[in-house]
Amino acid sequence: MGEVPQHIGFIMDGNGRWAKKRFLPRTAGHLAGLKALKKVILGCISEGVRYVTLYCFSTENWKRPKDEVDYLMGLFSEKIMGELPFYNKNGIRLLTLGDTSVLPADAAESLEQAVRATEHNSTIVCQLALNYGGQDEICKAVNRAIREGVEEITPAVIRAHFDNPWVPPVDLIARSAGEKRLSNFLLFDSAYAEFVFCDKLWPDWCEDDVVSIISEYNSRVRKFGGLA
Ligand code: FPP
Repeated sequence: MGEVPQHIGFIMDGNGRWAKKRFLPRTAGHLAGLKALKKVILGCISEGVRYVTLYCFSTENWKRPKDEVDYLMGLFSEKIMGELPFYNKNGIRLLTLGDTSVLPADAAESLEQAVRATEHNSTIVCQLALNYGGQDEICKAVNRAIREGVEEITPAVIRAHFDNPWVPPVDLIARSAGEKRLSNFLLFDSAYAEFVFCDKLWPDWCEDDVVSIISEYNSRVRKFGGLA
């Protein structure tokens, strides 16, 4: 049996294409994406992954049509608390990553409540990246350090000023739907992450896809700049 990545990041791409193929509105793709997200979290739990980060809404996603942005914000406000029994039953601790203070008040409140209501769960930590951007994350950390009077910025200082600095760096980043780019996701922590790109659209993902990305991860030799 190979090694299980401690932390996996998911770029959940292809919701819109999934909906288009079915002549459905793009929003139906996001709802189906939420269902897939739950299956993927369960798959990660079965495999023994301890941390997942899910790219739910980027700092650039505000450029999308208003009805799509509103729909996603509605999902964050209604579905997060609505799914609380699922999170608690499966030992899922929710955290947010990114600036949630500018989300609509009901979404921000619901997320805050869900983070509090799951804080004692310990099977897996699930970071929801919301209004998240990797460049923004680095700038925010540097600004926090400056405000504290730190005189020299080092990689360790930047990391110590992240939203959840105790969450370890990501080992594996998986992206669905065929695109091969990072799209401003986990720029700092992906320094030595492995990348797996899959053609399957996000709403079609399930537990088995977690098994296959971990198997691909296990075919890689990680050297972190050293020698194997
Ligand atoms: C990218 O696919 C997907 C998103 C920007 C949204 C992802 C959000 C979810 C899966 C819902 C999460 C919900 C909760 C409550 C945590 P795309 O729309 O860019 O797909 P496309 O490239 O095919 O258009």
